[in-house]
Amino acid sequence: MTYRPLLAAELAFDDKGTPYAPAYGDVYHSAAGGLEQTRHVFLGGNEIPARWRNRAVFTVLETGFGLGLNFLVTWQAWRDDPARCDRLHFVSVEKHPFRVEDLAQLHAAWPELALLSEQLRAQWPLLLPGLHRLHFGAVTLTLAFGDALDLLPQLDLKADAIFLDGFAPAKNPALWSDAVVSQLRRLAGPAATLATWSVAADVAKRFAGTGFILAKRPGFGGKFGMLTGYLPGAVVPGIAQADRRTTVIGAGIAGTAIAERLAARGITVTLIDAAPAPAAGASGNPLGIIRPLPSQDDNRLSRLLRAGYLHATRHLQALQDEGLPIAWARCGVLHLARDATHEATQRRIIATQSPPPEFAGFVERDEASHLAGWPVEIGGWWFAGGAWIAPPSLCQANLLRHGERIATHFNIEVARIERHGGLWRIYDNGDKVISESLQLVLAAGAHIQRLVPERLLPVWPGRGTVSLLPEAATPPLDIVACRLGYVTPAVGGSRCAGATMERDDATLPRRDDHVENLSRLDNILPAFANGIDPDHLAGRTSFRPMSPDRLPLAGALPPSAHADGDGLFVLSGFGARGLVWATLTAELLASQICGESLPVEADLAAACDPRRFMRKPPRWNQPGEL
Ligand SMILES: Cc1cc2nc3c(=O)[nH]c(=O)nc-3n(C[C@H](O)[C@H](O)[C@H](O)COP(=O)(O)OP(=O)(O)OC[C@H]3O[C@@H](n4cnc5c(N)ncnc54)[C@H](O)[C@@H]3O)c2cc1C
Ligand SMILES: C[S@@+](CC[C@H](N)C(=O)[O-])C[C@H]1O[C@@H](n2cnc3c(N)ncnc32)[C@H](O)[C@@H]1O
Repeated sequence: MTYRPLLAAELAFDDKGTPYAPAYGDVYHSAAGGLEQTRHVFLGGNEIPARWRNRAVFTVLETGFGLGLNFLVTWQAWRDDPARCDRLHFVSVEKHPFRVEDLAQLHAAWPELALLSEQLRAQWPLLLPGLHRLHFGAVTLTLAFGDALDLLPQLDLKADAIFLDGFAPAKNPALWSDAVVSQLRRLAGPAATLATWSVAADVAKRFAGTGFILAKRPGFGGKFGMLTGYLPGAVVPGIAQADRRTTVIGAGIAGTAIAERLAARGITVTLIDAAPAPAAGASGNPLGIIRPLPSQDDNRLSRLLRAGYLHATRHLQALQDEGLPIAWARCGVLHLARDATHEATQRRIIATQSPPPEFAGFVERDEASHLAGWPVEIGGWWFAGGAWIAPPSLCQANLLRHGERIATHFNIEVARIERHGGLWRIYDNGDKVISESLQLVLAAGAHIQRLVPERLLPVWPGRGTVSLLPEAATPPLDIVACRLGYVTPAVGGSRCAGATMERDDATLPRRDDHVENLSRLDNILPAFANGIDPDHLAGRTSFRPMSPDRLPLAGALPPSAHADGDGLFVLSGFGARGLVWATLTAELLASQICGESLPVEADLAAACDPRRFMRKPPRWNQPGEL
């Protein structure tokens, strides 16, 4: 996909002091009042709050996020309504997002929104293209940054209410075009409604024939009319959350992440693991790293890593803010080029994509050496917000967050699973049923194939060892540095250097593993670990769940996995990137399970679909850069 850098909105006001977009020659809201316009046109026109009452989930879709007034006022109405729906999804496309400091200035005009604005701005994404999902308790905001014409076709949701809020159709025709209208129709759920302040004859004409019954109502702020519409029909009630009891097999980063996402939605989870505690598999490494991986063509891998990295850091920050015991730090990640050709590619990608510097930049060799505090041979990418993280602490925090809805069962190895009377039965080694539930998520890491045929889940164990270097035996280093391997800052007295990649099944570190890790480290920071004896190093070996195409597996398993596969899901295949991907793909899977709006573009969700290997036998890619 061609990478299209975002052009931020320009902060400007007209002569009445109303926020104004010079590029479109129009104001962001009625001069008669922004909040009142939202309440009259968008809430009133969609019969909110009445329509979200008695609903588990209610989804609003908006064209044009702008200042986010519609979002903030909708959130405020939801917060203040004792009879509100359980969860509110607000999905909005925006081609020119405001910078966060401009939002602060704009929102200052509405003190009653101050608290909500502050929360929004605390999570406001970097201005990078694609979908960004933000959680505010039971309110979820999905910002689709980019052109509506590109992004509406990539949304997967069923809207209950549609807010049409482009600039005036004559000034912003693309956002009111047939292409947009037909996408909105596609995304409208049963009995959906729509509202807009515009009564342009053209707008009503474009909706004619879509099935929406349109009506004109009195407008706001001196406007003689506004347009509303509804699809005849009734809302179909979904499965109640209480009936969605789910068993999850595996308490690594995958299993704990999906348990947390399901429990956040009110679902009761039974979590089973063969080990005595969480994070016993690959997720038990003392330290790992998270960072994105840009590419010239902004391919699916890059897009999914960008989205995963941004989502993971928001999640980690939220856990930390809630006081959960999470160990991580945004120390920055220096990703040195492999060779001169790669260095030129890295430099060119940053020059052509010009991402926000907080996300990614290119540093020449001298600056790279300065950042590392150690001489390096070549320049590279600098991911200023990249982080180290202690994966076991993330597993723990995920389990604690909604712990009252997660029942953990350790020291139980699942021997087999079976569909029985519409439920999934989980058997232990002694053929005893240990759990029965409507839904089952397989999150058993590298050995997931023991539970389902390999043909359906071609995940293989990629053996890897990290070496633990005593802090006292190495020079200071406060950032993560990588180049076909990585080394972390010291945490708790040692730093992690990794990682090897083999296909054998030896469970303990070997001398050769340490030798290889030291050699990788020497390639990153020459002579940094001189004098360290591989014979005296500690380390940890575990197995990455590798997928054939290096993309994760998140979704429903095909019915043919078992006679009747309904309710069988998988979350795995993260390879060397589980810490980057687990949180976002867990949110993707939870959204699929609950029939909610998806947090990633449809093509990325399809790229993670475990059924892809059934349609096409896997072509095995070489493991990528670690
Ligand atoms: C050396 C190394 C370094 C890495 N570094 C990084 C990094 O820096 N950044 C990054 O993003 N990723 C990194 N990774 C990858 C990341 O660690 C993995 O992708 C991730 O941990 C996989 O998580 P998981 O939950 O799918 O699997 P696991 O963590 O392996 O969890 C699977 C769990 O399932 C349980 N289980 C399995 N079978 C059964 C059964 N039959 N019954 C009951 N329980 C069962 C196991 O006991 C285990 O607890 C690294 C991996 C390795 C090996
Ligand atoms: C009237 S403003 C929206 C006001 C906003 N709903 C609010 O509550 O503050 C219209 C918005 O549509 C955005 N926009 C215009 N054309 C677009 C397009 N093709 N795709 C996505 N957004 C677009 C503009 O950047 C602008 O922010």
